[in-house]
Amino acid sequence: MPLVTSKELLQRAQAEGFAIGAFNANNMECVQAVIETAEEEQSPVILQVSQGAIAYAGLEFASMLVKTAAELATVPVVLHLDHGTDFLQNVRCLRAGFTSLMFDGSALRLDDNIKTTRKITEIAHSIGIPVEAELGKIPKIEDNLTPEQVEDLMADPEQAEKFIEGTECDSLAAAIGSVHGMKESIQPLNIERLDDIRRRTGVPIVLHGASGVLCTREDASAKQVKLANHEGTIEDAIKHGVSKINVATELSMAFLRGMKEAFAERPNEKDMRKVLLPGKNAVKEVVRYYIRLFGSNGKAAKNGAVSGIQASEIKYHE
Ligand code: G3H
Ligand code: 13P
Ligand code: ZN
Repeated sequence: MPLVTSKELLQRAQAEGFAIGAFNANNMECVQAVIETAEEEQSPVILQVSQGAIAYAGLEFASMLVKTAAELATVPVVLHLDHGTDFLQNVRCLRAGFTSLMFDGSALRLDDNIKTTRKITEIAHSIGIPVEAELGKIPKIEDNLTPEQVEDLMADPEQAEKFIEGTECDSLAAAIGSVHGMKESIQPLNIERLDDIRRRTGVPIVLHGASGVLCTREDASAKQVKLANHEGTIEDAIKHGVSKINVATELSMAFLRGMKEAFAERPNEKDMRKVLLPGKNAVKEVVRYYIRLFGSNGKAAKNGAVSGIQASEIKYHE
């Protein structure tokens, strides 16, 4: 089906208490892994194109992969810009057919962040496209921050109120303690801060850096590193109203793990597809883990009915 926007999906997730996974689209195998799993789980899904993906694949290739995947799918698919750097990039993505934008003005002064976000919401809303914006700063693991420094960067609830009023953004990437790019799921979220921001804003809240956030469910087939009995988990975040959850690093690690295992089994392999496919299959299991954790499985059709083709009918390979 054609791409859908994130607006309605996130509002529904917010109303019904689940979250939609936003998975990064870095290459064809990852896009296929996400879309096949979303079909198998009957889940709506967001495929997002990061700055790294734009640098690696180019905007045209990255967006065409997601559009093609959506056309083949029966579940709702959103094409989202991840951490858009500026006004022009957002406009380019609008022209390229993105159905959801993000402006990350977290490096700017608050006034400038509001000003640029507002410019983008004005133009995007004129053609019905929603915009996510960042408040506070969600750092990267490479920034090497102390827990106190991560806390200092968290979104301020009072500012959040002013930010939503001033920008008219549709969803808020609020910094609540997560850190991008972590290899282990050990980072607790500040749920009190999340509650306060939700109370004052009302827009769907987006959790970034989910690969590194604590979650309690053991799932041997997918993630290995899970800690139990801790506050501030992904499950807590969903209970407290997070509606979109971004996952990138876990998918990348799964892809590499799948390929490494295949290489170890067949060190003399000459057909690259025999190595890429296990990488893709490993990504599928991680995507399935998250879709179920987020509770978006079975939510593809409004009435809950399962419809359309089975994922097994989407065949690209032997
Ligand atoms: O928030 C960004 C994601 O972690 C992926 O970033 O693809 O630009 O490395 P990247
Ligand atoms: P991770 O790579 O830490 O999962 O973060 C993803 C993200 O926030 C993309 O915007
Ligand atoms: Zn992010």
